[in-house]
Amino acid sequence: MTIGIPKEICPGELRVALIPSNVAVLVKKGQTVIVESGAGLASGYTDEEYETAGASIESNRKKLFKAAEVIIQVQSPGSNTKNGKKDLTLLKKGHLVIGMMDPLANPEIALEYAKKGITALSLELMPRITRAQSMDILSSMATISGYKAVLIAAEKSPRMFPMLMTAAGTVKPARVLIMGVGVAGLQACATAKRLGAVVEAYDVRPAAREQILSVGAKPVVLDLDTEAAEGKGGYAAKQSDEFLAKQRELMANVLAQQDVVITTAAVPGAKSPILVTAEMVSQMKNGAIIVDLAAERGGNCDLTKLNEVVVENGVTILGPENVPSSAPYHASQMFGKNVENFLKLLLDEEGKVALDFEDEIFQDTCIAYEGDVPAERIRGILGLEKPAEAEAATETDATKETETTEPATEEK
Ligand code: NAI
Repeated sequence: MTIGIPKEICPGELRVALIPSNVAVLVKKGQTVIVESGAGLASGYTDEEYETAGASIESNRKKLFKAAEVIIQVQSPGSNTKNGKKDLTLLKKGHLVIGMMDPLANPEIALEYAKKGITALSLELMPRITRAQSMDILSSMATISGYKAVLIAAEKSPRMFPMLMTAAGTVKPARVLIMGVGVAGLQACATAKRLGAVVEAYDVRPAAREQILSVGAKPVVLDLDTEAAEGKGGYAAKQSDEFLAKQRELMANVLAQQDVVITTAAVPGAKSPILVTAEMVSQMKNGAIIVDLAAERGGNCDLTKLNEVVVENGVTILGPENVPSSAPYHASQMFGKNVENFLKLLLDEEGKVALDFEDEIFQDTCIAYEGDVPAERIRGILGLEKPAEAEAATETDATKETETTEPATEEK
């Protein structure tokens, strides 16, 4: 196969989809890899390093898209809503595209790919199963976001994080609260702890308690019924308005004591829940900092403005965009490794693309194939009917389910 790695065109995107070490693995397996000139420069990987790894360098983007059968990107059309349409014009029937496509927020992109006869694999839809962990770009990128959010807060804060006992007196440690303890939140806890802050953390999923303790932070426990808090695949379920209102009421006192608050709460495919209202902000300490990692999905704080610094009542609220791209060297390293592992599954022994629709990894990630939208989750959002075959299979599965008590998946 000929694999093309174009330079990312989304403004502010510094990552690259594969790094030279991934290229070396693919070339060793007999693949041809073409990299657009300068594709890795912003993340610290030179054309020479790609060439040494066995790639050829192409300075003409159009030629690259023409020569490659498989196009791998960090932000493909759908995820790149700013100028991704430009790439859509370069993609032709028969192309296989792998990248982030954000189909939960922009489901119509699946129809656009399908209409053009493109096969599209959206990496955000990787199922949360043990076997797919090494391909899970959301976890990799969330790790970086969690780490960076703490550094952003530390930089903006008028305080230092660690306790210091000096000849000039004692400096009290900063108090940091992490709201939403998934992958990003857990890394934020660990990073704030490493910087010496006193760290508390809160999540709606009861299972998060153990994880909070494991990184040395203190769980905040609210008097709320969280039995239905965990949804499919370990994600949080959508909470009711009453639940969120009660949660905010109880949280206000906890927030008033913090120097830094980092919010990461997300619900896949839905607008982020509001955890911090303007009223709660008005009760916070002067000089406190909020870093809202959910800003791209509407934000966890009422006052968040994407990519802007909002100061309200002495509290600074930051809603940074595309945080993983601010550590592009390691973000590309992790993204590339995830893609490399995905390709190992996708390519057969002869190095040809072998999409196995019996495998839930492809069932979930494939949003366009032979003019249709196979991914059921996206079909559901688009209001498309189930394909006849799938419908028959679902009926058989339902019959089977009544006959067995065995768990159907290996969800974590
Ligand atoms: P996420 O990015 O979807 O959400 C962040 C966190 O916000 C979650 O922990 C969620 O419970 C929390 N949240 C949502 N609504 C909230 C509310 N109203 N109040 C407080 N917190 C709220 O989460 P992420 O990073 O995807 O992780 C979710 C879980 O999935 C974690 O337990 C993680 O370890 C697990 N996971 C499993 C994987 C696998 O098995 N392959 C891969 C990645 C994560």
